[in-house]
Amino acid sequence: MIQGANVQRSSPHPAPLVAEVREGLQGSPKKLPPKLFYDAEGARLFERICELPEYYLTRAETEILRERGAQMATLAGPGCTLIEYGSGSGVKSRLLLDRLQRPSGYVPIDVSREQLVRVAAETAANHPGLSVHPVWADYTRPFSLPTLPPEIPRVAAFLGSTIGNFTPLEAADFLRRVARGLGKGGVLLLGVDRRKDPAVLNAAYNDSQGLTAAFNLNLLTRLNREFDADFIESRFRHRAFFDAEASRIEMHLESLVDQRVRVADVRISFEAGETIWTESSYKYDRVRLDQLAAASGFTRSTLWADARDRFWIAGLTVA
Ligand code: AVJ
Repeated sequence: MIQGANVQRSSPHPAPLVAEVREGLQGSPKKLPPKLFYDAEGARLFERICELPEYYLTRAETEILRERGAQMATLAGPGCTLIEYGSGSGVKSRLLLDRLQRPSGYVPIDVSREQLVRVAAETAANHPGLSVHPVWADYTRPFSLPTLPPEIPRVAAFLGSTIGNFTPLEAADFLRRVARGLGKGGVLLLGVDRRKDPAVLNAAYNDSQGLTAAFNLNLLTRLNREFDADFIESRFRHRAFFDAEASRIEMHLESLVDQRVRVADVRISFEAGETIWTESSYKYDRVRLDQLAAASGFTRSTLWADARDRFWIAGLTVA
């Protein structure tokens, strides 16, 4: 059954989002938050990216869920409630819910209202007796979780390497909030992309079909439509590269010419070659992962990998 009240109550706050866009473009370097990628077209492009031969992340993680889901269920314990940060298309939660032992509840959290409502309805229909509480929220900002009976074990899932969008400091802040929501003994399943050969990483973000470029440039189309901007897409190009020092892929939109653009009520000037930094995608090794866990109040219980050891799902327990 669906407990629907939260879908109406917590909205992703459009006013702060406009301020975030304005401040991001007025700052130096110019930046935009990656959550802006996911309008209807961006979500569609991302699903196609996940099928690209170069973009191994989703396939590798899905393989881990299929192969190791039963072990994750054992770590989570019977009768648990699954809290999913970024439920997206709902494919991964289905894999998890099918393996958990008699799950009592499902709390999908997502910024995309349409996807959230659909995933909640589908899950409730497939799991009679499961109590589904969808929460429409931008989880990068503080928001409230529905109150759950304290005796019910909780397992959170933050999959897909979305944690990679956060800097190490932001990631620790975010995971500290997740730990607080879980309480002592609660379990987090965290999907992270492993640091690997830069050629493999660079190819994953510079695919030969140009889908990642289209995904990046779609941000400008969205700003034009929803934030009263006048970008000309052909005056920008997609750039993505691995920064070994920071252990992250950076995605940028590079201005091809000197130009001025209006966004909402401000004018932004670009020099040729100047970029908007649209995404970071941090890549983890064991040291960085354990540092993050320790900094946010978790201990690492398990680390599951795909057969080719490209991606990890870490089972973290609130210390
Ligand atoms: C959804 C954040 C995991 O960082 O790989 C895919 C998004 N960006 N191609 C990632 C993305 C470019 C993706 N995450």
